[in-house]
Amino acid sequence: MKVSSLVHLLVAAVAAPAAAEFSWKNVNIGGGGGFVPGIVFHPTTPGVAYARTDIGGLYRLNPDDSWTPITDSLGTDERWGHWGIDAVALDPQEPNRVYAAVGMYTTNWDPNPGAIIRSDDKGATWVSTDLPFKVGGNMPGRGMGERLAVDPANSNIIYFGARSGNGLWKSTDGGATFSKVTSFTNAGSYIVDPSDLYGYNGDKIGLTFVTFDSTSSVRNGATSRIFVGTADNITASVYVSDDAGATWAPVAGQPTKYFPHKCKLQPTEKALYFTYSDGAGPYDGTSGGVYRYDLTTSTWKDITPVSGGDLFYGFGGLGLDMKKPGTLVVASLNSWWPDAQLFRSTDSGETWSPLWEWAGYPDMNLYYSIHTDKAPWINTGFLSQDSKRLGWMIEALEINPHDSDHWLYGTGLTLFGGHDLTKWDTTRNITIHSLAAGIEEMAVLGLASAPGGSELLAAVGDNNGFTFKEAADLLTSPQTPWMNPMWTSATDVDYAGNKPNQVVRVGNSPGSPQIAISTDGGLTWSPHYGASNTDHSGTLAYSADASTVLWSSGNAGVLRFHTSTATTYNPGSVVPSADSAEGVFTPVDSLPSGAVIAADKRNNSIFYAGFEGTLYRSLDGGATFLTVAVDPRSSTTSMTVVAIKDMVAHPVVAGEVWVSTNIGLLRSTDYGLNYAQVGEGSITNTEQFAFGLGEGGSKWNIYAFGYGLNGPRLYASSDNGESWVDIQGLQGFGAISANRVVGSASVEGQVYVGTNGRGVMFAKGVVEGGDPGNGGGEDSDDDEEEWCDATTTTSAVPTTSSVVIPTTTSTTLVTSVRPTTVSTSSRVTTASTSSTSTRSSTTSTSTRFTTTSSAPITQPTERAKRWGQCGGINWTGPKECEAPWTCQKLNDWYFQCL
Ligand SMILES: *[C@@H]1O[C@H](CO)[C@@H](O)[C@H](O)[C@H]1NC(C)=O
Ligand SMILES: *[C@@H]1O[C@H](CO)[C@@H](O)[C@H](O)[C@H]1NC(C)=O
Ligand SMILES: *[C@@H]1O[C@H](CO)[C@@H](O)[C@H](O)[C@H]1NC(C)=O
Ligand SMILES: *[C@@H]1O[C@H](CO)[C@@H](O)[C@H](O)[C@H]1NC(C)=O
Repeated sequence: MKVSSLVHLLVAAVAAPAAAEFSWKNVNIGGGGGFVPGIVFHPTTPGVAYARTDIGGLYRLNPDDSWTPITDSLGTDERWGHWGIDAVALDPQEPNRVYAAVGMYTTNWDPNPGAIIRSDDKGATWVSTDLPFKVGGNMPGRGMGERLAVDPANSNIIYFGARSGNGLWKSTDGGATFSKVTSFTNAGSYIVDPSDLYGYNGDKIGLTFVTFDSTSSVRNGATSRIFVGTADNITASVYVSDDAGATWAPVAGQPTKYFPHKCKLQPTEKALYFTYSDGAGPYDGTSGGVYRYDLTTSTWKDITPVSGGDLFYGFGGLGLDMKKPGTLVVASLNSWWPDAQLFRSTDSGETWSPLWEWAGYPDMNLYYSIHTDKAPWINTGFLSQDSKRLGWMIEALEINPHDSDHWLYGTGLTLFGGHDLTKWDTTRNITIHSLAAGIEEMAVLGLASAPGGSELLAAVGDNNGFTFKEAADLLTSPQTPWMNPMWTSATDVDYAGNKPNQVVRVGNSPGSPQIAISTDGGLTWSPHYGASNTDHSGTLAYSADASTVLWSSGNAGVLRFHTSTATTYNPGSVVPSADSAEGVFTPVDSLPSGAVIAADKRNNSIFYAGFEGTLYRSLDGGATFLTVAVDPRSSTTSMTVVAIKDMVAHPVVAGEVWVSTNIGLLRSTDYGLNYAQVGEGSITNTEQFAFGLGEGGSKWNIYAFGYGLNGPRLYASSDNGESWVDIQGLQGFGAISANRVVGSASVEGQVYVGTNGRGVMFAKGVVEGGDPGNGGGEDSDDDEEEWCDATTTTSAVPTTSSVVIPTTTSTTLVTSVRPTTVSTSSRVTTASTSSTSTRSSTTSTSTRFTTTSSAPITQPTERAKRWGQCGGINWTGPKECEAPWTCQKLNDWYFQCL
């Protein structure tokens, strides 16, 4: 009967095994690694503060300056966008209560509506209310705000300033429900790029802040005066209500040229302070201002710290010292050269002192020292490589309302701050630290763990990548990112199976070769001059003997480099000449562009590939590929393979390769000639998957993101994929299609997950379920020896192909094919949109290559990207801009693509 089978299904779902012993925590890359657009301190209770990120959720401050992630559980596969935090608000009357507006994109990249989440226990647990529109935590203008605010006189009243023309919304029941404030009519007309109709820059920025005037009268239990900002530089951008939100009017006498980013109340002074920029941020801004509005006299005053030719940036960060009325710090939103500038005033903006000054170019007086002891790689890879030390994209800046010495500010790279801010007024020399410990917001693009080699290699967006040589290193922030060459992002990394300290990586920053080789397990690197200056991105497969690099590039199809003159390609000593056929990467014509590739980890000459529904293999070191004559079909649904998403060769067994597809995982043990579906449909629509050392140290577990009994999650199998357990538990990983996964090659039961904005997480446990070694499960033991044996097998490569379709059937788990558009967009936007977030302009990229590599110096042929530097005194990088941007002189030292 229908009813009983339904009940069975539910019981089965409830009874699905979950491995509770997998408890997830971050690998400590440390220091954030991405944009921190907002910081909020509780106004009355000391020690309560939160920092929000654009793609990696919300964090709570701990007394030791570290941060704890508090929205991990919200980042489910379906609601991955809830890791985009567009605003956070605290209830001035209830220190344990926190609200956030969540949702990542207002474009169709993010299919879900936005939501207001609320917690009464500082983020330990959450309740969520969907909004009837989207929220854009990773959209332009995300550093403005805060757009969300709780009435200081009434905990039930909350306002949210929406994007996309949706206007102002209000809750009168503590955030349980919201309705539109119809009397507020200027929803903000500004669109960054109106021609980008459905794209990232094509939506209205909308409202930018909501600020209550707690010095105004309380009317019917509500604060009567409320200020709201809109992204409008044509009519008026700052509106006020004097009747608790019933009616609204533009504030008289306001500046109308620019967009208000921040509006903060200094109640003792009875004044509002504003920062303005001519762009919505976070990457732009060529002018702006700082203003003070006197609430008693209703007058505006321009208190912008610089003018004339010195005013070539907008203003973002604005921190008021609540214990010292009249004292404040403001920050340039983006001063790309030579560095950000911060200004402090102790007289309400009458006079300012900058954090650094020219002392006769090129000398500077720095009234600060800056340290990154909690994340040493920030100094190695960024501060010591670039004139920009104080940062960029500075929208968040707060002085602790209970401690005038304690301040924090967010940048595109990390969160800085210190505990001696008042020394700015005395010795005029403050100490700045990276204070982002616990904030892990890397977007991870590739992972590897090499048997006998490095424990963890992580290719990441915006910060290139990191090597953790030993398992013992995982909780120590690395001394260095991958450097020489340093790219904006590395998109993949692989090791050679028989020479595990030979590692190859690929980058996304054309203008120099985007392949680099390491011969010491990823500690030091050399550029691979066999790669052109234009090909970039994509994925890699390194032959077991390191003689061949197969590269499924992002822009030039599948490429191959092979050397027979040296079995180990040592780029330090062997520089192939450009005209030798062996010296350069050449196209692999037998594979389609975008093919998924893998190298056999033991047999030096075998490669595997797949594309859409076709499998390929190469027996000649990747020179030529032939299609494999199999038509894999699900044993349970007869669905055919139409999407090959991942291929992984067994770390130690020759001839064993698995494929992740829309019907789930397929396995070949004969060098990719015949494939069979594993697990009879118990896991389908799999994404990335991996092998990892299993219990006892001789067996290998499989870890896979896919649809199993508990839905789209991370599962593990210890019996060759016959049975699967949910090892994700309560941990969120965001969209499963955006995740990377790799099992440890040396620590039993340890598995790493690379997320799109929450760094690398790892856990260790025993995978329950069938155990071939104990005869458990329903595993057919035919190939157990080969499977379990952690030594090289040397079986000959079969040459005849046959179609193998498992014939057994089992009760069906019906799952639908996951639309691939979601995966593409969520990943693509990370690599492009968010990747610009930390090093948006990549202004220093080309100088970096010529100054730090031992490469023959090649003239960069690339054009600078939007916001990138394109000229100025002694600028050696690109002088032209990508269309449609033009190179504009901001000052003698800095021209920018605008
Ligand atoms: C509004 O700001 C945009 C972006 O800076 C600018 O292109 C436009 O000219 C401005 N409009 C007015 C009327 O100032
Ligand atoms: C501030 O202190 C740092 C560290 O001691 C020092 O390097 C720097 O020169 C000082 N700045 C000034 C202007 O004295
Ligand atoms: C690797 O594959 C080649 C090419 O098919 C085969 O000749 C050789 O026997 C294999 N080597 C091992 C060690 O299995
Ligand atoms: C530009 O570079 C040249 C050569 O390195 C140097 O002599 C000159 O002083 C530099 N100019 C400035 C303004 O830094």
